[in-house]
Amino acid sequence: MADYKIAPSILSADFARLGEEVENVLAAGADIVHFDVMDNHYVPNLTIGPMVCKALRKHGIEAPIDVHLMVKPVDRMIGDFIDAGATFITFHPEASEHIDRSLQMIRDGGCKAGLVFNPATPLHYLDHVMDRLDMILLMSVNPGFGGQKFIPSTLDKLRQVRERIDASGLDIRLEVDGGVGVGNIAEIARAGADTFVAGSAIFNTDDYRATIDAMRSELAK
Ligand code: DX5
Ligand code: ZN
Repeated sequence: MADYKIAPSILSADFARLGEEVENVLAAGADIVHFDVMDNHYVPNLTIGPMVCKALRKHGIEAPIDVHLMVKPVDRMIGDFIDAGATFITFHPEASEHIDRSLQMIRDGGCKAGLVFNPATPLHYLDHVMDRLDMILLMSVNPGFGGQKFIPSTLDKLRQVRERIDASGLDIRLEVDGGVGVGNIAEIARAGADTFVAGSAIFNTDDYRATIDAMRSELAK
């Protein structure tokens, strides 16, 4: 079985109790904390920035933090999130003027680097940078909000990216984000994903452990 990772998106957590929410979801078996950064410019919503990431580290959160930058411009935030203790930093290629430089900045700062593809963003952005990537994130909704419906054409795109990763022989995680839940996680895994972001599907349930366990048993099928 692939090395599957579950990455709850804290976008759907209770922000008034964020430290506790993150502790609870990790205690319930989550692997990675997915941290959505929205700027009301690249996407039509506004969320949290590097100070909150730093505060989670100060609070004692040691799990990998997967910072999904939905911002334009990109580079200034890369530096700030490196300093704030991010583990992964991913950004949308069309939001960066210099994709290669942004990826290089992330790795130079000791973080893992990734590109994010919106449902209609073409995969050609991968062409010259595969060896600079630790993660490829396919959006299965248009970015900006939690609780949207999974866009089915993502499955075909996942299969294409899985082929490219396998052909490259590189160690690159394939993450999917948006509308992922117990009901579709197995199908998404079969299409090639190994890392699953889920916001509302986890945080809108009362028992995080039961939900994460249900996802893992779907993945084991
Ligand atoms: C959407 C964000 C997602 C979002 C997923 O722009 O990038 O991470 O929180 O939420 P769900 O799992 O509820 O679709
Ligand atoms: Zn996200």
